Amino acid sequence: MTTPLRLGIAGLGTVGAGTVKIVRQKAHLLAVRAGRPVEISAVSARNRDKDRGVPLTSYAWEDDPVTLATRDDVDVFVELMGGSDGPAKAATEAALKAGKDVVTANKAMLAVHGQDLALLAEANGRVLRFEGAVAGGIPIVKALTESLAGNEVTRILGVMNGTCNYILTRMESAGLPYDTVFEEANQLGYLEADPELDVGGIDAGHKLAILAAIAFGTQVHFAGVELEGIGKIVIEDIRAAADMGYRIKLLGVAQMTGRGLEQRMSPCLVPATSPLGQLEGGTNMVVVEGDSVEQIVLRGPGAGEGPTASAVMGDVMDIARGLRVSTFGQPAATLTAAQAAQSATPASYYLRMNLKDRPGALAKVATVLGESGISINRMRQYGHANESAPVLIVTHKTQRSALNEALTAMGRTGVVLGDPVALRIENL
Ligand code: HSE
Repeated sequence: MTTPLRLGIAGLGTVGAGTVKIVRQKAHLLAVRAGRPVEISAVSARNRDKDRGVPLTSYAWEDDPVTLATRDDVDVFVELMGGSDGPAKAATEAALKAGKDVVTANKAMLAVHGQDLALLAEANGRVLRFEGAVAGGIPIVKALTESLAGNEVTRILGVMNGTCNYILTRMESAGLPYDTVFEEANQLGYLEADPELDVGGIDAGHKLAILAAIAFGTQVHFAGVELEGIGKIVIEDIRAAADMGYRIKLLGVAQMTGRGLEQRMSPCLVPATSPLGQLEGGTNMVVVEGDSVEQIVLRGPGAGEGPTASAVMGDVMDIARGLRVSTFGQPAATLTAAQAAQSATPASYYLRMNLKDRPGALAKVATVLGESGISINRMRQYGHANESAPVLIVTHKTQRSALNEALTAMGRTGVVLGDPVALRIENL
């Protein structure tokens, strides 16, 4: 008789309940595929009485997740509570020390404590898996740690926060301002309890930092992610970018350069015809570029009950089958300390500004750009009925520091009204 794999699940929110449903409803399928039954021994959550749409009475209940994590009848602790510290971290550590494997969907915990937890897992001979932490149902962690293990990854790009992509694409399709669509997203329940995690780029930054660690063999370094949210994006930029053949995305980019590890999560323009440019609504997309594979594109739902529970179960099934992969794809002690690049790889930039409508105004702007060594690639001025002329400029590749110098100098020309908008254009 085969030994079942016994789970202890802590956290019965959307993802936890979804995971319980898969274990219950697909018991036969899971057992056949894993070669052994996958069962739940015990569960834990804050509120025992809440109806979660799935029967729980056949499982032991623990109020304390640490107690759940260390039960004798639990082989795998499934952490679905969230939060970088507190009960999630305490229970994960307790589980690893008690000799349990751990599956989690907790991006914040991995982004902040990933290295220590990976070391702890290995010291105890356990595995710590986290497919559900990055891009929901997209199997990007598995792709990087296993399928692409023969590559030197050169760059990872992606849209890793569905809420931001929903807001940006809805602004464009409905012609609505940011505040209106933000409220819409709130009503639809898309926003995290702290919306800044979404729109401030923090949630997506956590995911990028985790992927960068796997891709480049570095210790996860969330503090090294250059973060900028979508709060300043206005409908005028979305329209103007579209007019120039681009779409605006909250884009994560990680690449190893001669200057160190570059990790950026910020609003960028991408070609409208590229896979990232065509990504609509709450969907996620991760693009991986490797020396052998060239470029692959993974697209799918980045959140929600089914997709995230699907990712969690993928990890559980690996453990049930006896597949044991290091947390970040190589022994934690071999991960090097990430040196953050002090400057970003040169790029083209999109500039939008309003100029005083007077002779020579445009020439002054062109001169300032030229004096900073910045060459103009394309430029467009729109018809206008008042004193200010809307102008769009796409530059050739330049350093951000040169652009900053030019933007400061533009303020001194006396012809630029307000602050120009400058957004990076990411080539694909
Ligand atoms: N709030 C996230 C998103 C899902 O909108 O993609 C969880 O990471």
